Amino acid sequence: MSGQFLTEVKRTHYAGNLRSTDIGNEVVLMGWVGTRRDHGGRVFIDLRDRTGIAQVVFGPDINGEAHALADQLRSEFCIAIVGRVISRGENINAKIPTGEIEVEAQRLQVFSRSDTPPFEISDDSEAGETVRFKHRYLDLRRPALQQNFLRRSKLCKATRDYFGESGFVELETPFMVKYTPGGARNFLVPSRLNPGHFYALAESPQIFKQLFMVAGFDRYYQIVRCFRDEDLRLDRQPEFTQIDVEMSFIAEEDVYHTMEGLIAHIWKEVLDVEIKRPFARLKYETAMAHYGVDKPDLRFDLQLCDLTEVLKTHGGGGVPLFSGALEQKGIIKALRIPAEHATSLSRAEADKLEEFVKGFGARGLARCKLGENGDWVSSPLSKSVTPEARAAVNQALSARTGDFVFFQFGRPKLVNAVLGGLRLHLGQKLNLIDKSQWNFLWVTEFPMFDYSEENKTFVAAHHPFTAPRSEDVPLLSTDPGAVRARAYDLVLNGNEIAGGSLRIYERDVQAKVFAALGLSEEDFRAKFGFLLDAFRYGPPPHGGIAFGVDRLAMLLTGADSLRDVIAFPKTQKGTDLMTDAPTQVSDAQLEELFIRLKGPI
Ligand code: AMO
Repeated sequence: MSGQFLTEVKRTHYAGNLRSTDIGNEVVLMGWVGTRRDHGGRVFIDLRDRTGIAQVVFGPDINGEAHALADQLRSEFCIAIVGRVISRGENINAKIPTGEIEVEAQRLQVFSRSDTPPFEISDDSEAGETVRFKHRYLDLRRPALQQNFLRRSKLCKATRDYFGESGFVELETPFMVKYTPGGARNFLVPSRLNPGHFYALAESPQIFKQLFMVAGFDRYYQIVRCFRDEDLRLDRQPEFTQIDVEMSFIAEEDVYHTMEGLIAHIWKEVLDVEIKRPFARLKYETAMAHYGVDKPDLRFDLQLCDLTEVLKTHGGGGVPLFSGALEQKGIIKALRIPAEHATSLSRAEADKLEEFVKGFGARGLARCKLGENGDWVSSPLSKSVTPEARAAVNQALSARTGDFVFFQFGRPKLVNAVLGGLRLHLGQKLNLIDKSQWNFLWVTEFPMFDYSEENKTFVAAHHPFTAPRSEDVPLLSTDPGAVRARAYDLVLNGNEIAGGSLRIYERDVQAKVFAALGLSEEDFRAKFGFLLDAFRYGPPPHGGIAFGVDRLAMLLTGADSLRDVIAFPKTQKGTDLMTDAPTQVSDAQLEELFIRLKGPI
């Protein structure tokens, strides 16, 4: 093929897509040089593009000019070739999809040369995160990461297709918004035109999407960036993406049905997997009671058992730690590991678990092993526990010889966090998790309020526009802690992938919720006046949900961290190693914004 590359000679194929059916065809490939080998007077390179690699061979017998130029090729040069696809005959490379063919190069064009990269561009590269994040554009050339982003792109396309087909309107909302206290900590943006005034970066489009409902858009969605100044973890980034949804004239079932349809569509399009519907459901209270967490991983069945009543009946069972906890109105719960799993848990390993639970704030981890006749062996508890209490506990736990039992007592929040964390840890450690499952679960009936010990008031557990269950409305004035919200989370394999609620649209209910939060209408007006104003003009009944796109992408790709599915992520300290953000700015810039730093920093 003759003529100028790019203008006349266009790419005909992606390298990774070539197969034995292409043998005999002339192809034009464009991409990067992976490895390069000289062998028997010939030059072999792996030419890489976003689909994978194909082997390209240069030889004096194929084309002398191209062969001579190929001598200069080094890793990561950006090139184009024209060549003919031939069979590799006996020398098949079964490890790669293009392993049956190679391309004999008749022309070579070097578009640009490359310095020696700071690390090898390969999925086996052992380069540390620091150097990879500093040169993220090279890191992103790695085939595994490219596959992650291609999958993420399919996730977004499947989402848009689904909502487009289902009568949803894609609308945008502002990022620079009014600061409202409560919820996540906001990033602030100074306003040059309004000295001393700040915008907040939107933590979600929550209020605006409700205003879309007031405006009559009826079914809204958006794939949208959100910003939260939180402490970062593997599943949390300061800027992350949501699939944000709001619908009018609906009840919970409509949200469940529509979102299950979305998930089924995404899984079909991205992974070609059929997801069974409807998804399982669990009330928040049951989730906490049985699993200690509000996002239980149900791919394995270990359950927690509440022993508070049993041990109350037995006056603490003779164990001072138990009776002490009961006196302080604490609870006592246990996690039983059945003998068939407990065999792979040595005593030394069980001891190590004590250190593990301390990470959750536990002071210790009382435990025992079930001996013959229901005795508790290898445990300090065995000295004090009364035979009657021991028998009652064994019965409550359905404990058998060889089982391990772990106890935790005290404040419910701590007990659940510790045993919930331990359950998950042991599920992983003892290989109890069936990794082939996609286990979706709706968690429903969340409490409406959390009690803030610090401020001695109730605070909204979700956000203050979440509707209470109608049968709980009378409790708003008498027992706010017992009010359940019309809120739901969607959990996948123990990860919270979405959360939402039906919203309050009735003025009298809203007033009662303000009162339960200890807020006057004036307090509230100062924060959310525009929403209250809007709600004076016929708000429709509405509700919605938001999915974490990064978390979905992480689970769909099997990545361990959000960083493998966010192109330019932040580190644990919220920095970008490539651009060096955040940086200091000049005094002149600060002056323009009427900001003076309280130095030295
Ligand atoms: P919520 O705060 O539960 O709800 O967020 C919805 C989903 O977004 C994901 N998510 C995050 N992902 C990565 N990094 C973070 N820092 C982060 N924070 C949240 C989670 C979560 O389930 N406006 C409401 C939704 C509604 O009520 O409609 C909201 O934002 O997967």
